Amino acid sequence: MTAEEATDTGEVTGPDVGLTRRLFLKLLMGVSVITALIPFTTMVEFFYANPKTQGSIRKKIANVKDLPEGSTMVFFFPGDDASERSFITHLTAEEQSRAKSEGTDEYVTDGFVAFNTICPHLQCTLEFPEDSEYVCPCHGAYFNIADGTVLGGPSPRPLPAVKLEVEQGSGDIYAVELIGKIGYGRG
Ligand code: FES
Repeated sequence: MTAEEATDTGEVTGPDVGLTRRLFLKLLMGVSVITALIPFTTMVEFFYANPKTQGSIRKKIANVKDLPEGSTMVFFFPGDDASERSFITHLTAEEQSRAKSEGTDEYVTDGFVAFNTICPHLQCTLEFPEDSEYVCPCHGAYFNIADGTVLGGPSPRPLPAVKLEVEQGSGDIYAVELIGKIGYGRG
C-alpha cells in the first residue's frame, strides 16, 4: 500500500497530505500573527522612535515680516508629515512680559515660540491658540502659549517644543531642534 490513497470522492489522503496541511496551517498562522503585529510596530515607532532632538536640522520656516505680534502660523518640522505639524506664534507684548515674570520664557526667541501640535493625550491636533492658550478639541486639554506646559485637562505632558533661531538682518526664522517626542510630549 502506498503512503497516499484515493478516497471514494477522489480526494487524496495520507500522511504526506496531512503534513502538508499542518505546514500550510502553521504558515497561515504565522502570516496572521505578523499581520496583526504590524499596527503595533507602527504605534511603537510613533510613540518612541522619534528622536529626542533633531540637532543637525536647520529649516527656514518664516520671516518676522510674516508674523505680526499675536499671530500664529502652521509649519512642519522636522519633516513634512502630518504628525510634524507645528505652530509658530509671535507672542503679544503682554504675553512676552508675563512669560518673563513667570519664568516660562525658556523657549521664547525674540518674542517667538513654536510647538508641535499633536496632543500628548491621545494625539488629536490642536486648534489655533485663543486667550493665550493652545486648546485640544478632543478632551479639552489646554496649554500655556509661552512654554507649552499643561494648564488643565488630561494631557500627561507638555507639548514638544521647537527651538528657534532668528537671523538678524534678514529676519528669517529657522527651526533648529525638536525637544520631546511627537505624540508623547516632553518630560
Ligand atoms: S487628545 Fe487632546 S485632550 Fe485628549
